[in-house]
Amino acid sequence: MASSAAGPAWLRVPDDANALAQHVWPARTHRDADGRLVVGGVTATSLAERFGTPLYVVDETDARARAARIRTAFERAAASVGTGATVYYAGKAFLSGAVVRWVTEEGLGVDVATGGELAVALAAGADPVRIGFHGNNKSIAEIERGVAAGVGAIIIDSEVEIERVADAAARAGRVQRVRLRVNSGVHASTHEFLATAHEDQKFGVSLERAAELGERIRSHASLDFLGLHCHIGSQIFDSAGFAESAERLLAAHAELARVAPVPELNLGGGFGIAYTSADEPAPIEEIALGIAEAVARACRAHDVPVPRLAFEPGRSIIGPAGITLYTVGTTKPVPIEGGWRHYVSVDGGMSDNLRTALYGADYTVRVASRVSEEPPALVRVVGKHCESGDIVVDADYLPHDVAPGDLLAVAATGAYCWSLANNYNHVPRPPVVAVRDGVARVIVRGETEADLLARDAGLDAVVGGEASDRMSASVASDSEEGATA
Ligand code: LLP
Repeated sequence: MASSAAGPAWLRVPDDANALAQHVWPARTHRDADGRLVVGGVTATSLAERFGTPLYVVDETDARARAARIRTAFERAAASVGTGATVYYAGKAFLSGAVVRWVTEEGLGVDVATGGELAVALAAGADPVRIGFHGNNKSIAEIERGVAAGVGAIIIDSEVEIERVADAAARAGRVQRVRLRVNSGVHASTHEFLATAHEDQKFGVSLERAAELGERIRSHASLDFLGLHCHIGSQIFDSAGFAESAERLLAAHAELARVAPVPELNLGGGFGIAYTSADEPAPIEEIALGIAEAVARACRAHDVPVPRLAFEPGRSIIGPAGITLYTVGTTKPVPIEGGWRHYVSVDGGMSDNLRTALYGADYTVRVASRVSEEPPALVRVVGKHCESGDIVVDADYLPHDVAPGDLLAVAATGAYCWSLANNYNHVPRPPVVAVRDGVARVIVRGETEADLLARDAGLDAVVGGEASDRMSASVASDSEEGATA
């Protein structure tokens, strides 16, 4: 390969392009005596042989440990200011039956954002009382399902939803606990936050109307008002934005608390993780304490009791616990300013990891099947899709002799990769395998081409059998309806 140009400013040329930055990979990820990557006690090569690539791999022990650590951090921080904390796992990051069981066993509730996520959480046996149900446009049917299931809280996102949830609860003869999502005007990302009068986005009600709408909720006998909710953004590295947001919410909270007790304050999720060695989020214990102290200070200033605190981390629990394995198909040096960039094409891409294309996200990649003494080369790992923006890892260094047949591992893909996966170019979505103590098991089966063909109503002849019977049955019932109308 030709010699490398320099990468982006944040990316240092590594002394050793085989090295694994500890805070980027699942805990205890290492290389065995033959240089093969080992995750959860299983070699990446044996996973690839058994399950194929691309492959999502989640380290169960690591995910559980993060769930437990984060729960404990918030509970301790809350206790230090004389209150308690409830932690929900934000299922949108990655939801499957196994993950629901892990987080539930680690003492967390589950936060769902759609009827589909609710269905998974319930089917996996999550206690409905410990489910929070979000969404800025829940259908009436979704609200009814939430109420019927007995979810612990529905998060009301807009004025119109107050009556919708109240009516659904009244129809079901229930009193539904609710939170009110508020747009605090604070938006945070990594170490910076922006605080304005209004944040220009679709979620929540404005801060100025929070107290009035809280009272409106209280006027419904079928609703039980738990408190305010706010989520300020994602991939946040410290407590400053949360503290600012909590202080702002506390004015409305206090106004409501002077009329009747407001038991809770939910500050959402968004705690950041290291995607690359340049990312250094503060320890969650420090963030939790910073938030709890800011809430306590604001409560003192407003002379109201410190409410119970609630949080909804997703990425920080499952993100670092997951990696993706790919096989290299082709490599190609491309001349760029000052040298060469080596394009390394893998057998997946923007269908299994949309984050790079969608957000310009950065990732870390290593060769997983071997080590090499070759010097580092600047690489861009790209997928197999028909789009030049189909990039998995925009910039990292791999040994100069990276070649077709090598197995690559991309770190920190546990959150928002499988959940954003798609079938662009009719590429089936890969399976998810959990590893623990040297044992690997499929927790979500991969799609097959037959799965893709089976949904195509224009392929009756190819699909045949049961699927085509189902399709003609639904066509028949459609035309019957048409005939009656
Ligand atoms: N609670 C609420 C109300 C949320 O909207 C979210 C994320 C969370 C909790 C969990 O946030 P986390 O702790 O996972 O950052 N697809 C984007 C992230 C979208 C997050 C949407 N809401 C990404 O891949 O970066």
